[in-house]
Amino acid sequence: MRKRVPFLDLSSIHRDLEDELVAAFRETMRTCRFIGGPMVEDFEKNFAGFCDTKHCIGVGSGTDALRFSLMASGVNPGDTVITVPNTFIATTEAISQAGAIVDFVDIDEQTYNMDPAKLAAYFETKCHIDNPTGRAVSARTGSQVAAVLPVHIYGQMADMDSIMDIADKYNAIVIEDACQAHGAEYFSAKTTRWRRAGSVGISAAFSFYPGKNLGACGEAGAVTTDNEEIARKIRMLRDHGQMKKYHHEMEGYNGRLDSVQAGILNIKLRRLSGWNEKRRRHAAYYRGLSGQTDGLVLPYEPPWSKAVYHLYIVRAPDRNGLQEYLARHGIETGLHYPLPLHLQKAYSAMGYKAGDFNVAEKASAQVLSLLMYPAITSEQQDYVIGTVKEFLSERRSVA
Ligand SMILES: Cc1ncc(COP(=O)(O)O)c(C=O)c1O
Repeated sequence: MRKRVPFLDLSSIHRDLEDELVAAFRETMRTCRFIGGPMVEDFEKNFAGFCDTKHCIGVGSGTDALRFSLMASGVNPGDTVITVPNTFIATTEAISQAGAIVDFVDIDEQTYNMDPAKLAAYFETKCHIDNPTGRAVSARTGSQVAAVLPVHIYGQMADMDSIMDIADKYNAIVIEDACQAHGAEYFSAKTTRWRRAGSVGISAAFSFYPGKNLGACGEAGAVTTDNEEIARKIRMLRDHGQMKKYHHEMEGYNGRLDSVQAGILNIKLRRLSGWNEKRRRHAAYYRGLSGQTDGLVLPYEPPWSKAVYHLYIVRAPDRNGLQEYLARHGIETGLHYPLPLHLQKAYSAMGYKAGDFNVAEKASAQVLSLLMYPAITSEQQDYVIGTVKEFLSERRSVA
């Protein structure tokens, strides 16, 4: 029988935890506290502890978390927010939905994260300084750059010291898109300590979409921050602008975290560090692919980073050929992402064209995501590694 190696397998985790997860659901049925309540508060306390922040505010999704972070942290309608083209569209949707204007800087070729040198160049060459505020005004959008939104892509943090320094210089805030980076760490030379994803920027957004390192059994997200006022505003934004029932300080949203998901997340949070360690071990095992010629590029983890490998990305010149070959051998893979945001139809009005963000474009043509989740076995990894090597040597002999 032909082998089938799935790209993602969520079933084994849920089989192992089934009794505990069902008990959380039963508890909710018993108390009928479906939205908010002790389970949500408990999770918020625990996740803030995990991220090393003062506050965590549970919300409906990662997209809510990003949108509320932007709105509560001081980004106003019409402001410009800078992010990267190599991300999931939710990052830029949230910026637009907060009423702000998206612009991009390119990524670093080794880490696929925001390139601080490109960010500095954006401020230096594509903006002028507005004297009263000291803020940069983008020539492209015509508005003040209020925020920089780095995305800790694939589970590895962006170079936060550099990004924070550049943003500070222009009075812009930094909000982290940590939706793929639960538990990732960054060694900050500035503060001489390891910092957790979610604890460096003024606020940060997490997604608990089921396939994430910490995933709910449905939709869920959270914002982390040390800032009391931001936390307070987000608590209002997620709940129709109210702190007290039917007393609305502002218009808000229905963006609350429900109790069943919070109960489930609490149970899984206890395992998250162990699961992340397994992902790191699997990533080390994939090093068996190294030593290949033919331009196969494995993930790069700088000395200042402890990545949690939400995704395991390799780069291959004949990416499509490799993906097809693996598929023929029953190995599922993914593409994150096949088309950078500046070339998406949704953003055609921005007027960007091919060649504008070379590194992101090259990445989108070459990246391939190999399976990565705690439950993968060494047999599965051996099979993937062997099949990739087979493809490369067949190609070599044809050449
Ligand atoms: C980088 C990034 N940002 C934002 C999101 C949005 O999260 P959600 O799907 O929970 O709204 C995701 C989720 O896939 C993501 O990967």
